[in-house]
Amino acid sequence: MKNKATLEYQGKKYEFPVIEGSENELAIDIKTLRAQSGMITIDPGYKNTGSCESGITFLDGEKGILRYRGYSIEELAEKASFLEVAYLLIFGELPTKRELEKFHTDIVNESMVDEDMKKILDGFPKSAHPMGVLSSLTSALIAYNPKFVNVSSEEEMYGAIVRIVAKFPVLVSWTYRKQKGLPLDYGDDSLEYVENFIKMMFKKPNHDYQRNDTVIKAMNKLLILHADHEQNCSTSTVRIVGSSHAGLFASLSAGISALWGPLHGGANQAVLEMLQAIQEDGGDTKKYMAKAKDKNDPFRLMGFGHRVYKNFDPRARIIKKAADDVLDALGIDDPILNIAKGLEQEALEDPYFVDRKLYPNVDFYSGIIYRALGIPTEMFTVMFALGRLPGWIAQWREMRLNNEPIGRPRQVYVGATTREFVSIQDR
Ligand code: ACO
Repeated sequence: MKNKATLEYQGKKYEFPVIEGSENELAIDIKTLRAQSGMITIDPGYKNTGSCESGITFLDGEKGILRYRGYSIEELAEKASFLEVAYLLIFGELPTKRELEKFHTDIVNESMVDEDMKKILDGFPKSAHPMGVLSSLTSALIAYNPKFVNVSSEEEMYGAIVRIVAKFPVLVSWTYRKQKGLPLDYGDDSLEYVENFIKMMFKKPNHDYQRNDTVIKAMNKLLILHADHEQNCSTSTVRIVGSSHAGLFASLSAGISALWGPLHGGANQAVLEMLQAIQEDGGDTKKYMAKAKDKNDPFRLMGFGHRVYKNFDPRARIIKKAADDVLDALGIDDPILNIAKGLEQEALEDPYFVDRKLYPNVDFYSGIIYRALGIPTEMFTVMFALGRLPGWIAQWREMRLNNEPIGRPRQVYVGATTREFVSIQDR
C-alpha cells in the first residue's frame, strides 16, 4: 500500500504513514517509532534519512536533475543574475523588477562593515586559511549587530537577511585582500552585486578597475550553480545550529566551517592541488587513477563522486562548458584543463568508477575557472561560501518559519556498562 508502511519485530507490527513529496519521492514517517516500539533507527551519515520537508531545492541524483524553487539550474545559470536567484531561493518567487531594485537598494544601504572588524582581521596572520577567517568574521559580525531577530516579524527577518547578504561579500573580499596585503576597501554602490564584489576583490590602490564582461558572467554563473543544494553537510549544519534558536549569523558561521572540509566544499581546492601535483609529477593520469582505485591508498580522485548524484552532476556539465568558454575568452591555455579532461575521460570508461557511479561533481572544473579569473587556490572554498550564502539563508529561514524542533539525534550506546569507580591509588 502506498500510504502506509508496516514494520514487524518479534511478532509485533507497527504502522507508519508514508508521505509523498511533490516530485513523488516517498518517505516513511517514523515520528512515532520510539513511542510505539521503544526502538530507534540508525543511519550514520544520514544516507536514508530525511531531516525535513523542504520547498526550496529539488534534486534527483539518479537522473541528474537540479531545480531551485522549480526552475532548472540550466535555465537559471543561463538567464538569471545571482541576486535574482538569491531572492528566489530565500523568498520563494522570482522578484519583479521593482522587488529586485528594492532588494539591491536595501543591500547597498547595509553594505558598511564596522571599521572595528578590521582590528579583528588584523589579529590573523597572513598565512591563516581564508575559510577560518571568514567563519570567524561572520561570527564576529554578531557583536556589531546584537539585536535578537524576532523571526515572527517579517520585517526583522528581512532586515537580518539583507544585512548579511550586504556585508558578506565585503568580508570575503577582505579575507583575500588581507592575504595579499592589499588595503581593505568597500564596494561601489553604483554597481550590480556581482560586479561590485569583483571590484572589491581585485581593485588595486594604484590602478583603475577594468570591467571585464567575461569575468562577471563567469562569476555570476558559478555563484548561481553553488547557491543551494538541499540538505548537504553545511546546510544541515546551518539548520541544526539554527534549530537551537542560535541566530542567523552564528548558524552561517558554523555552515562555513562545515563547508571547509575537503569532502565537501573544500574539494574545489583539493581538486586543483591534485591536478597541479599530477602535472608536476609528469602528467601521468593513469598513475593517479590506479592510486584512486587502490583500497590501501587513501588517495581519492577529488571532484569525483557524490552522496546524492549517481549520474552526472548537472552543475559539472555547465561548469565544464564554462571553463572552456572562459579560458577561450581570456586567451588562456591552461594545461591543467587538459589533465582534468583526461582524468574525466579515463574515469568515465573505467569499471571502478562506472560500477560505483562516480561522476565529476561541481568541484571538478570550478577551480580551473577560478584560477583563470586570478583567484588563488586557498580562496576557492570562500567563493563557494559566497555562492552558497542565499541557500543557507533560505534553509535557515524555512526551518525557523516551520518552527522545526531542535535537531537532536539519538545514538545506540556501545560503551562500557555500569562500573565501580576505582580510586587513583588503586589503579
Ligand atoms: N575516488 C575514488 N573512489 C571513490 C571516490 C573518489 N573520489 N568517491 C567514492 N569512491 C568509492 C569509495 O571508496 C567507495 O568504494 P567501495 O564501495 O569499494 O568501498 C564507493 O566509491 C562509495 O563511496 P562512499 O565514500 O561510500 O560514498 P559517500 O556518498 O559516502 O561519499 C563523497 C561521497 C564524500 C563525495 C566521495 O565520493 C568523495 O570523497 N569524493 C571526493 C571528494 C569530493 O569531490 N567531494 C565534493 C563533493 S561535492 C560537494 O560537497 C560540493
